[in-house]
Amino acid sequence: MRGNVEICCGTGRTIDRVTDARLCRCGGSSNKPFCDGTHRRNGFNSDT
Ligand code: FES
Repeated sequence: MRGNVEICCGTGRTIDRVTDARLCRCGGSSNKPFCDGTHRRNGFNSDT
């Protein structure tokens, strides 16, 4: 995503403030909530 974004956890604590981020959707990232490329190895497919 692009734009001014504040990423917060469930308690409301700010994780990061960014203007450009790739968020993990596969659940396998070691750097959640950000994508670390693990989706390429864990079989994640956003089309299913
Ligand atoms: S979407 Fe999960 S590591 Fe990229």
